[in-house]
Parts: sequence; C-alpha cells; structure tokens
Amino acid sequence: MSEHDSPARPPLPIVVLISGQGTNLQAIMDAIDAGEVPAEIRAVISNRPDAYGLERARRAGIPAEVIDHRRYPDRARFDAALEDRIDRYHPELVVLAGFMRILTPAFVAHYAGRLLNIHPSLLPAFTGLDTHRRALEAGVREHGTSIHFVTAELDSGPVIVQGRVAVSPDDTPQTLAAKVQAVEHRLYPLVIRWFAEGRLRLKDGVVYFDGRPLEKPLIYEDKR
Ligand code: GAR
Repeated sequence: MSEHDSPARPPLPIVVLISGQGTNLQAIMDAIDAGEVPAEIRAVISNRPDAYGLERARRAGIPAEVIDHRRYPDRARFDAALEDRIDRYHPELVVLAGFMRILTPAFVAHYAGRLLNIHPSLLPAFTGLDTHRRALEAGVREHGTSIHFVTAELDSGPVIVQGRVAVSPDDTPQTLAAKVQAVEHRLYPLVIRWFAEGRLRLKDGVVYFDGRPLEKPLIYEDKR
C-alpha cells in the first residue's frame, strides 16, 4: 500500500438467515474465502432445526443457531427473539438466503437499509412460493432471480439487480430451478460485495448504486 491509498476497510460483518439447503449461503462463504467479498459472516441463523445450511456453517467454523418459529406464540414474538439474537453479532448487513418466513414491519424497520433478500423470480412477477412451476405454467420465456432490499410486504422492496435465464420448452420446475440457482450463486456474493464496498445504499426507499439512483433494476448478464 502506498501512503496515498486509504487504509483497507475491515470486512463487513454480516448475519445470514436461512431455512433450508443453504446453497446460496455456501456460495457466499466460498466467495468470501476466495477473497472476492470483503465480508465476514458472524453467524448463520435458521428458523428450522433441520436446515442443511446449518451444517455448512458449522463445517466452516461459523456460529450456527436455531430459533425455531414453532416455539413462539406469534410472529411478533418470534421476530423479536430473532432480532435479539441477530443483534448480538452486531451485523451491518442481514442477508436472507432462502429464509422462508414473512417478517413483521417492526423487524423490517429495525434493519431498514441493511436487509437483503433473494427471490427466485423476476419481481414483481411470481411473489410467494413455487415460482418455477408457476413460471412454467404461465408460459413465460424468461425467468430468473431478484435481489432486493426488504420492505414490509412479501417479496417486495426496491430491486437492486435481476439475473435472467431463458426458459426452454423442455424445462421442468427442477431444471428451471437449477438454472436460476446457478445465477443466484454468482449474483448474491456480487451484491454483498457492492454493499461492503459502499457502492450500494438505500435512501428514502430508493436504491443508489455508485452514488446514482437506480431507475430500474440492474440486469446481470451471465458472461461465463
Ligand atoms: C433460493 O432459490 C431463493 O431464491 C429462494 O429459496 C432458495 C433457497 O435455496 N428464496 C425464496 O423463495 C424467498 N421467497 P438455498 O437454501 O439453497 O440457498
């Protein structure tokens, strides 16, 4: 480093929330290990004790915790417990990676501007569950994934970037899911990197990328 360089920022502390397989978590861990994302996963938290992603975290030496939603009488109390656990790790960014719970407005407000979600469709199309099957049934020719800042409604909030895939006539929900996930695994680490580098911010409900407001989502072109 020369005397003109600014000192390196410390890695961005993040907490990742999961409910299942954790392949996106794995992609993020791998990208951090490869030096591609200046972040540090302080903890992985699942609402399901059987989520395989917990095993991935443990293997990587990352604290893996369960807050089982079935043990709480209502959504508000589950979210309060989750928030309490997350905040023990002091993250600057909370990453939802296949976290299959609807969050309360209070939770979302607490993490305003530092809560990201990935959703397997080209939002606003196909919010909710079973997006690949529904995309096939609707006969769309393009499908994909969206990464967005989270707001109170389900799968909504300002979209940062979308990764598109072409739908083939012989796609099944499984083959389409695999195509979309391959894009997700490249895209989520990239977006976390942008956030960690200070290139991505949410201000007054608008996404800013490199200091400029985004009028529409960035489109990720798969160049591999
Ligand atoms: C991902 O495809 C993600 O887009 C989706 O769940 C999958 C989790 O896979 N998220 C949602 O449907 C949120 N509404 P993973 O556990 O292997 O990362």
